[in-house]
Amino acid sequence: MIIKWAGSKKWLFKRHPHLFTIKYNTYFEPFLGGGSIFFLLRPKNACISDINEHLINCFKALKEDPKSLYLDVKKLIDSHSEETYYLRRDEFNRSPKPELFLYLNRTCYNGIYRENSSGKFNVPVGKRSSSWLPFSQDDFVYFSEVLSNANIKQQSFLDTLSGVKENDFIYVDPPYIKENSFREYGKDVFSPDDLGDLVSKLNELSKNNKILFSNFDLPNVRELFVGPQWKFQSVEQATNISGTKKGRTKMKEVLIYNY
Ligand SMILES: C[S@@+](CC[C@H](N)C(=O)[O-])C[C@H]1O[C@@H](n2cnc3c(N)ncnc32)[C@H](O)[C@@H]1O
Repeated sequence: MIIKWAGSKKWLFKRHPHLFTIKYNTYFEPFLGGGSIFFLLRPKNACISDINEHLINCFKALKEDPKSLYLDVKKLIDSHSEETYYLRRDEFNRSPKPELFLYLNRTCYNGIYRENSSGKFNVPVGKRSSSWLPFSQDDFVYFSEVLSNANIKQQSFLDTLSGVKENDFIYVDPPYIKENSFREYGKDVFSPDDLGDLVSKLNELSKNNKILFSNFDLPNVRELFVGPQWKFQSVEQATNISGTKKGRTKMKEVLIYNY
């Protein structure tokens, strides 16, 4: 995916394709992140959102003018060095722009997005493992075409879910709540109360819509889903979310869905 993002769910789409071959009116993804499922699914009608404004502004720029975004990022990548990385990071923190966001995302440590308590992006420079930008201008145009069917919004999950009508499909991938796991995508932390509010809304929406939810497989996550409509499937997934060798463990995720 063009934007690297912690918690990418590409594996979910590849390993469980049957969960995505369903009929629906509008596709909703309120915790978009890098949008791995959205770009693989390519829905005809979608509402996608995230609370991170820089991420969302970057997707909007990709949708509206993919060629300019590509040329601007390519220029930044072509002149990349450790020194320029920190200059660009300061520039981004003073005056954020989509091309700076994408440049930092592609060249920072592990593609992580983290902010300090005053909301400044503070991830150090990454180590090169392959090309910094393994995409062409045509790839950017392709991603823009996929985004042309989507309404892209910077907002919290409850605002997005308030737009769900009937026979819609909602893929829900909130940050993990477990202690010490990677759950800070910005200065705001997704809390257990947020998870409670989210699932109570999903219980309500499950009467008339198809819902797929993924998270750590924990009893206090499962027990929030109330009613016989919910199916639970435990899946093992290797993760390297911490970016360290030690942090590269297998963890149990749960898929919860009602169709
Ligand atoms: C696990 S990631 C989603 C990863 C995505 N499925 C992918 O494949 O890249 C969770 C996302 O939730 C977003 N988020 C955190 N709190 C939120 C909130 N209150 N409302 C909406 N999005 C939020 C984070 O910015 C992050 O992008």
